[in-house]
Amino acid sequence: MKVLGISGSPRNAEISGCYQLVKTVCENTGMDYEVISLAGKHIRGCIACLGCVHDNVCVLKDDLSPLREKIVEADAYVFGGSNYYNRMNGLMHCLLERFYQFRHREGNALWGKLAVAVGIGGSSGSVVADDIEEIMAYNFIETVAKVRGQGAACCWTCGYGETCKIGAIHMLYGPDMKITEDKIPDVRKQPEILKAAASAGKLLGKRLKVDYDRTQITMKMQSLLMEKFKETT
Ligand SMILES: Cc1cc2nc3c(=O)[nH]c(=O)nc-3n(C[C@H](O)[C@H](O)[C@H](O)COP(=O)(O)O)c2cc1C
Repeated sequence: MKVLGISGSPRNAEISGCYQLVKTVCENTGMDYEVISLAGKHIRGCIACLGCVHDNVCVLKDDLSPLREKIVEADAYVFGGSNYYNRMNGLMHCLLERFYQFRHREGNALWGKLAVAVGIGGSSGSVVADDIEEIMAYNFIETVAKVRGQGAACCWTCGYGETCKIGAIHMLYGPDMKITEDKIPDVRKQPEILKAAASAGKLLGKRLKVDYDRTQITMKMQSLLMEKFKETT
């Protein structure tokens, strides 16, 4: 069994809370895993050309192309994104939009797989984890756990954090907040979040070992999605 972790933050692995959480989840699955960071990668959003309808392969050629095979081969995913403007950051959204390529006609490469959704934000990553869960559902992938963390908004280190009137420090903590190293949020210093990430990884590993029936999971996700559609029509 192979788990593929993808951190959608454009910040490099050393400073990205998203990467740290995705890695922690993967490490705790007890499965073979690979963690990929999208930092520095150029991945366009779906252009709705429908070039993928014939063979379920996206015609766009960019940094997603070499990842396609890894996505198809993995049995489960740990997908993480960062909160930008209270929604998933663009780079991760572009990647997940392009999952459209997998879902035409007999294209069942992703159906019935499992996932953990990771979201991180300067205040909260909840909306991002929810976004990922929803996109997974559209691909008949079951999200077994969601992990949300608080990372460091750029305002902590931009150099103007204490005086900037519209930045996160002012908004979240008021004008009197003095920036010191120990106050800068870092998921590695937050035992509760790391514990939640580890638990999510363990649960994913367990589901892969004892309860991994892709047909059953596909049927479950299809009926959940149908119920959801009924609510909106
Ligand atoms: C363009 C931009 C917009 C952001 N908007 C929000 C926001 O609306 N809410 C929030 O909680 N954090 C917001 N943040 C802060 C990031 O979510 C935070 O820095 C997070 O730690 C980024 O994840 P990373 O550490 O994996 O890069 C924003 C950051 C950027 C660069």
